[in-house]
Amino acid sequence: MRTQRYFFDTSEEAEFGRLQRQAEVWDRLTFRRLEEIGVGEGWRCLEVGAGSGTVVRWLVDRVGATGRVVATDLVPKWVRAIEAPNLEVLEHDLVADPLEDSAHDLIHVRMVLFHLPEKQAVLRKLVDAVVPGGRLLVEDYDMRTLPHSTPPDETWRVVGEAPVKLAERIGLDPELGRRLPGMFAEAGLVDIDAEAVAFPRRMPDIPAWQTQFVELRDRLIDAGLVTAEQVDDVIARFDDPDCDLVVHGPTMHSVVGTKPGGSAGR
Ligand SMILES: C[S@@+](CC[C@H](N)C(=O)[O-])C[C@H]1O[C@@H](n2cnc3c(N)ncnc32)[C@H](O)[C@@H]1O
Repeated sequence: MRTQRYFFDTSEEAEFGRLQRQAEVWDRLTFRRLEEIGVGEGWRCLEVGAGSGTVVRWLVDRVGATGRVVATDLVPKWVRAIEAPNLEVLEHDLVADPLEDSAHDLIHVRMVLFHLPEKQAVLRKLVDAVVPGGRLLVEDYDMRTLPHSTPPDETWRVVGEAPVKLAERIGLDPELGRRLPGMFAEAGLVDIDAEAVAFPRRMPDIPAWQTQFVELRDRLIDAGLVTAEQVDDVIARFDDPDCDLVVHGPTMHSVVGTKPGGSAGR
């Protein structure tokens, strides 16, 4: 059975643009974390829920001809467009489908766990798939900072709070990011290192957030969380080059842990 609870409709072509804009916001953090981990020549890496594939492209270059990258997604159509001899692409449901045990030096999962039920069980499955001594890097949101702005702005607050409330209504955890270190410890990982990052920006300088509100607009209105006037006002402000409202956006928690045992030296 396939997982049905994904927050957005993956079948829409518009998804690609949204995924890529969102990915580019966080790639800077992710690539730095991968550098710090020391991912290099010969590593065997798994990118789960690869989306538009920005991280996959980085990994295939980094691990070189002696390494390999496996990229999975429920809908892997965009990663299939990446041509690299050291890349294997799989259509794979992280919840329902098995992962090979002790097969990867590094597993990276960004903005995927948020959408899934049974997060702790999924995390255990990911840990099982890491080689002893290997690393798991999970990055996910704390959405609570989304409605913050400088100066405070009532319309932004209401519209920014709406996706947080919608997530809660459908049983998703808007604070997942901050829970990750505890979940890592419960899953048996050691040497856990967590970092939380946000990119407060003037609205016209962060089009990725506009895309999110365009995508969610009708659902937020239908759920009674915003009026059409409020959400359209926010969407329009991203297009106004003179808008100086600085919005905080979600906070990304980037958490890495090591699977005990082995002498992987990775
Ligand atoms: C918000 S996007 C993040 C994409 C990418 N990880 C990134 O950070 O740019 C979430 C991705 O997870 C994928 N996804 C959702 N549920 C999944 C599941 N059960 N198994 C595998 N991938 C899943 C979606 O198809 C989508 O590509």
